[in-house]
Order: sequence, then structure tokens, then C-alpha cells
Amino acid sequence: MRRFENRIALVTGAASGIGRETACRLAAEGASVLCTDVNESGAPTVAEEIVGRGHRASALALDVADEHAWENAAGLLPDGRLDVLVHCAGISDASPIPETTFDRWRRVLSVNLDGAFLATRFAIRAMRVGGGSIVHVSSASGIRPSPGTAAYSVSKAALCMLGRAAAKECREHGLPIRVNTVCPGGVKTPMWHTMPFFRDLVEKTGSEEAAFETMAGGNPAARFADPADVVHAILFLASDDGRFITGADLPVDGGYVL
Ligand code: NAI
Repeated sequence: MRRFENRIALVTGAASGIGRETACRLAAEGASVLCTDVNESGAPTVAEEIVGRGHRASALALDVADEHAWENAAGLLPDGRLDVLVHCAGISDASPIPETTFDRWRRVLSVNLDGAFLATRFAIRAMRVGGGSIVHVSSASGIRPSPGTAAYSVSKAALCMLGRAAAKECREHGLPIRVNTVCPGGVKTPMWHTMPFFRDLVEKTGSEEAAFETMAGGNPAARFADPADVVHAILFLASDDGRFITGADLPVDGGYVL
């Protein structure tokens, strides 16, 4: 399928995990992809891989929570045009509320929510005339909180509301822009390695795969997703396949939130 032929796409958090897979798949389906990430070497590496496969991509170091950094992104869009934004950048955190410092709380909200606001504002401004599709990557934790993840869960719940608010505003103002949100359950990505409890579990179980299986409770139907499982849903919403869908929060979690 070439659902993104001649489309300009921007992916945040493109250096790793879901964002990396999204950037690769968008490019494979014809998009010219601007890969952005706070990881300054990671985004160019992914863009080079994409170009090496004969597709189109460029890279930009971009901290989504840095308002001024977004000005650099604007300069890289051809004629200022953007057709697709997939906002994947995010950080995880696990800390019970009594032990959570205010700095830690604010850091999670800053990256996961302020960053999403800046990304959404940037995209709506760029899509105002030609239209486009925005997909946010929230989390099942934004629907059903996981214990010890108040900051993360709150940031992801607010991200769903940001998507709905933006979708409604675009519709009311007659802008041809759709805004949707996917809410993945557990996905096998490097994000888990930022969590000390996961590193301990890998050591205890002997492998990353065994650690994911343990967390899924040994239930094969409740397995952790591969990034591709989530990216199928993202691309559906980002493409014209999802042309009459806006303001949706789509769980992509194998039934976790049921
Ligand atoms: P990941 O850690 O593999 O990738 C996240 C990327 O975001 C990294 O490349 C990182 O450098 C980048 N990033 C972090 N802070 C940034 C910032 N301030 N500005 C720009 N880029 C920044 O993680 P994964 O799993 O691919 O996460 C992608 C999204 O999916 C996140 O929003 C995460 O919350 C969400 N998610 C992940 C789940 C999982 O189980 N892995 C489950 C549900 C949601």
C-alpha cells in the first residue's frame, strides 16, 4: 500500500520504539518523513536507514517541550506544508505519589503534555490551509491508571482530552484537520529499560522476552504488543482510511482496558 504518496509527515520521538517504526512505515508507504527526537544522534540514524531503503526522510533534533525548538521544524517543511503529524515522544515514570518529587511530576507533565500541546499547535498552524491528520500516542494508562504511575497516567489522560478538544475546535472552525489518539497497552520498546523495576525483572527472569511475558501474567492473549501492532492503528487513523474519524481515543491493547 502507498497510502502516504506525496505526503509530508512529521514524527516526534522517531529515534526509538513506536516512533521509529511509525517513521519507517510512513516512508515505506510513500511519505517524506521528518524524523524528530530529543536524542540528537538517534533521529538522523533512523532517517539514514529510511533513505538507505530508497525512501524519503530527514532529521531534526527536537525537544518537544521546548517551545522555541519548534521554530526550527517549521523551517524544514517544504513550503511550510504538513499533512501528517504522529506525536510519539513521551517519557515513562513509576513512583508512588508520596515519593514523587514536584520536579519529577512536572518533568513528566512537561514532556508528555506540554510537548503534545506544542506539537498540536504546530501541526494545526501548518495544516490550516491544506488540511491534515494528527495522531497522538497516549496510553491505556490514560484510561485505566496503573498503580504508582500517577504523573504518567494523568499526562496520558490529558493527552486524550487534548486530542478531543483539538478535533472539536478544528471541526467548529471548518478546518479540514482530523485529530485522533491511540492508547496502547504494554509495548515491547526500549522505554521499559528506563524503569528500574523492569531492569530488575529482566535480570530475575533471564531475558527481556521473559520479563514481558511475566508482566503479561503468562496469558498468551494478554501479550505485550510489538510496535508494529500499534503502528497499524496509527497509520489507519493518519491515512485516508480513517477519513471520517476524528476526536477518537482508540485503545490498542488486546483488551487490557476492558
Ligand atoms: P521509547 O522510549 O522507545 O521512545 C520514545 C522516544 O521519545 C525516544 O526516542 C525518546 O528519545 C523520545 N523522547 C523522549 N523525550 C522527548 C522529548 N522531550 N522530545 C522529543 N523526543 C523525546 O518509547 P515508546 O514505547 O516507543 O514510546 C512512544 C510513546 O508510546 C510514548 O508516548 C509512550 O508513553 C507511549 N506508550 C508506550 C507504551 C509501552 O509499553 N512502550 C505503552 C503505552 C504508550
